Amino acid sequence: MTQNAAIAMNTKELTDKYIMNTYSRFDLTFVRGEGVRLFDDKGKSYVDFASGIAVNNFGYNNQAVNSAIINQLNKLIHVSNYFYTEPQALLAEKLCKHSFADKVFFCESGAESVEGAIKLARIYAKKVSKKGYKIITMKNSFHGRTFGALTATGQEKYHAGFEPLLDGFDYVSYDKPDEIEKIIGNEYCGIIVEPIQGEGGVNIPDKDYLKKLKDIASKNDMLLIFDEVQVGLGRTGKLFAYMNFDVTPDIMTLAKPLAGGLPIGAILATERVASAFEPGNHASTFGGGPLVTAAANAFMDELLKKGFIESVQDKGLYIKSGLLELKNKFPDEIKAIRSLGLISGIEFFDLKARDIAVKLAEKGFVTTPVQEKVLRLTPPLIIEKNEIDHIIKTLEEILKSTL
Ligand SMILES: Cc1ncc(COP(=O)(O)O)c(C=O)c1O
Repeated sequence: MTQNAAIAMNTKELTDKYIMNTYSRFDLTFVRGEGVRLFDDKGKSYVDFASGIAVNNFGYNNQAVNSAIINQLNKLIHVSNYFYTEPQALLAEKLCKHSFADKVFFCESGAESVEGAIKLARIYAKKVSKKGYKIITMKNSFHGRTFGALTATGQEKYHAGFEPLLDGFDYVSYDKPDEIEKIIGNEYCGIIVEPIQGEGGVNIPDKDYLKKLKDIASKNDMLLIFDEVQVGLGRTGKLFAYMNFDVTPDIMTLAKPLAGGLPIGAILATERVASAFEPGNHASTFGGGPLVTAAANAFMDELLKKGFIESVQDKGLYIKSGLLELKNKFPDEIKAIRSLGLISGIEFFDLKARDIAVKLAEKGFVTTPVQEKVLRLTPPLIIEKNEIDHIIKTLEEILKSTL
């Protein structure tokens, strides 16, 4: 047994003994990453088609992000938000200059950004629009595990056992704006929606759907909140997912990839909406600290390099056509391919996505199943076409072996 294997056994035993049992982990222990590759404790290498969960957009050991972290680490890790820090200010400017937003609030995770967005919508309703406190959210959505975000999440399996949830959320079908028209009234202050549902199975709406939501929200003085925690920041082949749909929100949440793998969240909003928050209304001890925002500045600079986002679009079209070809070869196994930029969902008729993910791992690929029958591919945005060819060929072999 190699020394690393001994460590891994210990790691697995310690994890199972001491960590709360909330994840169905794969039997894999990773020790290192480089580019789009991960290495396990036995030295086996894997091509990553997960990126954490859409976190590691530049893969592993990215030198620009690493240098920014090391440089900031030696200067200042933390200081309270009662004081100014340059990395935070620069990051806020970058996010606003490249989006619809005028103002940003920084926090530490996706769920926390959703909590803050809900609070902002409610206080805007109290102070400005004089609307009620209710929020319309989508069935099949995912917004996080804290109580507000959990309630906004339209999947009963995540609610079970935690009731009563937060008051004031109504659920409508994704991609069916008419359902909102039917219930709309003064009691609602906002609509929260993922431009593409990630955890819900990589669901891509009709191209006019988000615009219709914007119309409904504007006509009724409600705020439109886009949760781009999973699909923002280059993932869909545009800087932000909403840019695929020719529409802007009033509030947007970001997290996962923003700080190159360090924990961060952000709420972006227009000036009109953001001005509802005043000192004392919302806060976060660690939110937007110098270390994470220095990393995020480096991440944003990489993402904004000329031609990079276009390369994501190009590779996105490539993976989509490869997956559609695979579907043609296996019409009885693959029910649907849903893909935009570098987020793809392969929906099977009967096969369990987790079983396919385990087989892919045996053959050296890391993927994440989402719904029971949907396998999600979210490779680092630096993935190469030959690596895309390789996973599709491997999927073909796996599907053949199931016939
Ligand atoms: C759309 C969306 N919102 C919110 C979250 C929650 O983010 P976090 O796990 O950082 O709290 C997720 C996580 O997968 C997500 O996909």
